[in-house]
Amino acid sequence: MEENNRLFIGAEIGRSSQSSQSSQVLVRDMERRDLGKIAELESICFDDPFSLQTVTALFEEGGVNLVLEDPTGIQAYLMCSIREATGEITTVATRPEKRRLGYARALFNNLLLELSKRDISWVRLEVRTDNLNAIRLYESLGFRKIGVARAYYEDGKDAFVMSMARR
Ligand SMILES: CC(C)(COP(=O)(O)OP(=O)(O)OC[C@H]1O[C@@H](n2cnc3c(N)ncnc32)[C@H](O)[C@@H]1OP(=O)(O)O)[C@@H](O)C(=O)NCCC(=O)NCCS
Repeated sequence: MEENNRLFIGAEIGRSSQSSQSSQVLVRDMERRDLGKIAELESICFDDPFSLQTVTALFEEGGVNLVLEDPTGIQAYLMCSIREATGEITTVATRPEKRRLGYARALFNNLLLELSKRDISWVRLEVRTDNLNAIRLYESLGFRKIGVARAYYEDGKDAFVMSMARR
């Protein structure tokens, strides 16, 4: 792994900042060897997880794909494709027992840094209309609802389309 792919984010992780834990947490680029673990976390975190095949296809598209790691392994991840000069979040999740520690926020902060290097100004995503925790996260980051995609998911449920202009 290239050392310059490592982005230390301890200071940005709010609730753990008073412990030594934050200094042992880092965000780095996702690597091919991580894909099995990402597929495993997908199945833990989602009722309709992406398969290893889908995760691999997204990884091979390029874009910005990040993992957040502590000494025990990958605890959170984010995948973002670049389509028509817009960042498109395809998946983001935090291991259930590691939630509300600021990990997803840290991933987004690092994503926005990387998008700024690539001069990408817009980021968008789809989120289930009943996924209130994720919607709160996105709104706290500055995403706004810009529409509804009807029957977006395989189970027929709708998605909010949300977008933000990178600051
Ligand atoms: C949504 C998800 C990624 C958030 O991950 P996380 O690491 O716990 O999020 P963070 O700790 O960075 O939270 C940042 C902010 O988001 C909001 N938020 C996140 N989870 C929340 C919850 N359960 N209740 C209320 N607000 C929440 C809060 O504003 C929070 O800031 P605060 O803790 O200072 O109040 C996580 O709950 C998850 O993996 N869910 C299952 C997968 C999923 O739904 N992914 C999104 C698909 S679109």
